[in-house]
Amino acid sequence: MIDTTRRKILKTGLIGAVAGGSLISGLSLYKVREAQAATAVHPYGYYPGELDADASRQLAYDSFFGVFIDGAKHSGCAFATFHALISQLAELHPEGAYGQIPTQMMEWAAGGVAGYGSICGTLNGASAALGLICANAQAKSMIGDLLNWSATTLLPTRLSENNLTVPSQRTYELEQSISGGNLCHMSVTNWCLATGYASGSEQRIERCARLAGDVAARVVDMLNGVVVPAATAPVDKTSCGQCHKSGTDFDAGQFTLGRMDCTTCHIELEKVPENGHHWYVIRKPE
Ligand code: HEC
Ligand code: HEC
Repeated sequence: MIDTTRRKILKTGLIGAVAGGSLISGLSLYKVREAQAATAVHPYGYYPGELDADASRQLAYDSFFGVFIDGAKHSGCAFATFHALISQLAELHPEGAYGQIPTQMMEWAAGGVAGYGSICGTLNGASAALGLICANAQAKSMIGDLLNWSATTLLPTRLSENNLTVPSQRTYELEQSISGGNLCHMSVTNWCLATGYASGSEQRIERCARLAGDVAARVVDMLNGVVVPAATAPVDKTSCGQCHKSGTDFDAGQFTLGRMDCTTCHIELEKVPENGHHWYVIRKPE
């Protein structure tokens, strides 16, 4: 539980100390930093630059294969990105909320939520971390970027272009693929089809570990202002959203919502006439 009363006391005490112009010791200097970081944008504190993209990439990669917390081993794609970000912040902000979060709480999200192949675990873990690090508006903007970028970029990045250290038996480069969407299913299957490796292969597991590293690094780049979150969503690249958006006019096509690229799943549509595709076939319930 987050003890907000205690945090308020700490901050009040601090303002008094600063106003009084008292000599700031190492510890209280730290608290100044902490209080300044606890802004409306980063409620529990974040200083641009305090997380390093490469170190976070490495920690996410290593965490994918497992780290020990309280004597038990925890692992997986969603734990990897969440733990990489939050465990570092727990050390940097010992007074903040981060240290009170058991990072193994995201383990369930592996394999697209309990192995169901829905949202990619690396994205799920990273999104949860962003939800803690940032206020809602900024979290959503960065999560949106993460979903767009991961769906449209050749991944995982190559060892020759990142600073990842991998075990000696796995120093091979992996072929890259474009996931086409945010689902674990799309991400894994498109990679398997692109490379010829089976979903249970060592290479596919290695691919998702490196992907976890890429996602953690991307989050840190956004937090540090190195990457500015993209404002557009995949749906903006198609005409579909003109009619298929969240709204009250059912007949105009407003019985869907979503910002994904519709055309990755919906192919071979009939030409869209003014009132829809083939209204004579589809009727809304009477
Ligand atoms: C991940 C795959 C996927 C993506 C991406 C996707 N859809 Fe769908 N959509 C489905 C599935 C599955 C259904 C359920 C009906 C079906 O099986 O055809 C569906 C149903 C629909 C229907 C109703 C179909 C019917 O037969 O009446 C519409 C309209 C639709 N989607 C529009 C969109 C639009 C617009 C987008 C983009 C914003 C989108 N979809 C993105 C998979 C997808
Ligand atoms: C001009 C408005 C409009 C646009 C643009 C539009 N739709 Fe539709 N769409 C409709 C309406 C209205 C319906 C329901 C009535 C119908 O099918 O005629 C519909 C039905 C659908 C359906 C279910 C029927 C089918 O044809 O399978 C799918 C899937 C769908 N749209 C996907 C898309 C996708 C993907 C795009 C973008 C490539 C798109 N729509 C663009 C208006 C539109």
